[in-house]
Amino acid sequence: MRLPKAGTIEIAPSILSADFARLADEIAQVASAGVNIVHLDVMDGHFVPNITIGPPVVAKLRKHSNLVFDSHLMISNPAKYAEAFIEAGANHITFHIEVADEPEKLIDKLHKLDVTAGICLNPETPVEAVEKIAPLCDMVLVMTVHPGFGAQKFMPQAAKKITRIREIVGPNIRIEVDGGIDPKTAPIVVSYGADTLVAGNAIFTKPDRIAAINAIRQACS
Ligand code: DX5
Ligand code: ZN
Repeated sequence: MRLPKAGTIEIAPSILSADFARLADEIAQVASAGVNIVHLDVMDGHFVPNITIGPPVVAKLRKHSNLVFDSHLMISNPAKYAEAFIEAGANHITFHIEVADEPEKLIDKLHKLDVTAGICLNPETPVEAVEKIAPLCDMVLVMTVHPGFGAQKFMPQAAKKITRIREIVGPNIRIEVDGGIDPKTAPIVVSYGADTLVAGNAIFTKPDRIAAINAIRQACS
């Protein structure tokens, strides 16, 4: 399982809004809609004011799914825990620039461990903070809400950073957007140059997940 090469629009359902008691079934449902990626939100109660899942949950889910596990580490010490997530079955690791002491070193380590690497920036973090690091990554993640919770309102100003990031990274690196993505906001971020769309609330609060995914797809086409 490998992050698809840039050049396609990918929808990455975020299980944060799924039923945590039935995660394997929830992931199987979105897989049947033809998605390639599932977005796993990892929160530590320190970098963000919420706590979610750790490596043991990822390892159990790995047995039930062939999707790319896109692990979004919203944790204070990503270098300390990244390897445990890879051992558990994560295929892609994104960490936050706001808490990365030696981002180049961590990206290098992730590549040596044979996973793809992503850097994430919060809504208030300027593009300059990732200017040097972004070209070394496989995907840049732009937060369009403050990390920590699903179902928040899309922040249009934060999304505008995508245009500049696309100029910096060129066409071969993915740009993922996370927070408030739905059929209305998805076409906006795609027009700025994003190609990987995380959506939690817009998929998992709908009774028909497949129709919800198709609605986002259609809105972008
Ligand atoms: C927020 C998480 C998101 C979240 C997005 O901290 O990183 O992945 O699940 O949720 P929605 O799509 O509901 O805004
Ligand atoms: Zn996320």
